[in-house]
Amino acid sequence: MDPLVFISALARDAGVLLCERMDAPRQVEEKHRHDLVTDADRASEALIVERIRAAYPTAAILGEESGAHAGSGDERFIVDPLDGTTNYAHRYPLFCVSIAYERAGVIEAGAVFAPVLGRLYTARRSGGAHCNGAPIRVSATARVHDALVCTGFNPAGYARNARYFGALSDTAQAVRRDGSAALDLAFVADGTFDAFWEWDLKPWDVAAGSLLIEEAGGRTGGVIGGALDIANGSILGSNGVIHAEMEQLLAAA
Ligand code: IPD
Ligand code: CA
Ligand code: CA
Repeated sequence: MDPLVFISALARDAGVLLCERMDAPRQVEEKHRHDLVTDADRASEALIVERIRAAYPTAAILGEESGAHAGSGDERFIVDPLDGTTNYAHRYPLFCVSIAYERAGVIEAGAVFAPVLGRLYTARRSGGAHCNGAPIRVSATARVHDALVCTGFNPAGYARNARYFGALSDTAQAVRRDGSAALDLAFVADGTFDAFWEWDLKPWDVAAGSLLIEEAGGRTGGVIGGALDIANGSILGSNGVIHAEMEQLLAAA
């Protein structure tokens, strides 16, 4: 089966599972301070891993909750079964499932499904980005002065981002902190946000969302310049037009 069709259906099914469980009694645990996991995260990942194993038995899987599953070929799925767990635990509706498909070390397809919003964001390398099947494009905002930008705070080190947040709050039209990095990146891809940055994310937070931005005509890279390295996970994603100005502002902070 076409990998994008496969991960799109899978992200949808996992998102439906999350919604079904949202109002039921749930177990919420702290992995570390500010870093939660629920039984729904684990159930979503179990469903996703089982379905990948059945359809792509030789593929490797990197999942947030179950870690690295070795494969024998050059295909790998990178899975965040619930991005925005703290939002989910408080029934704040911005959370999603993020699945990327990688071949020979290159992300070829990504799907981000936000079930409460009913939005399935998809991207195929060299094939464009879509939301619920309609093409999406980054914004045309030309100056940070006019931009709505978003950031996230790594649970292991909130303080690190404080001065960047302060600097951009002064310069941009406004700064948001929505709590789901994969969805924040999708919101850059569809032009809602003009840029997003966060330090020290994980591959499962950025793999699908970065392809969405690139295929929607935007740009991704490191927070203060350089190429994006999904293994490192510090990311600046933007509409491309304000990318250099964002880099400069963040570097100066
Ligand atoms: C978190 C979210 C959040 C970001 C954190 C991530 P999780 O992922 O994407 O927005 O600020 O750095 O860890 O734990 O909800 O999957
Ligand atoms: Ca995440
Ligand atoms: Ca997660």
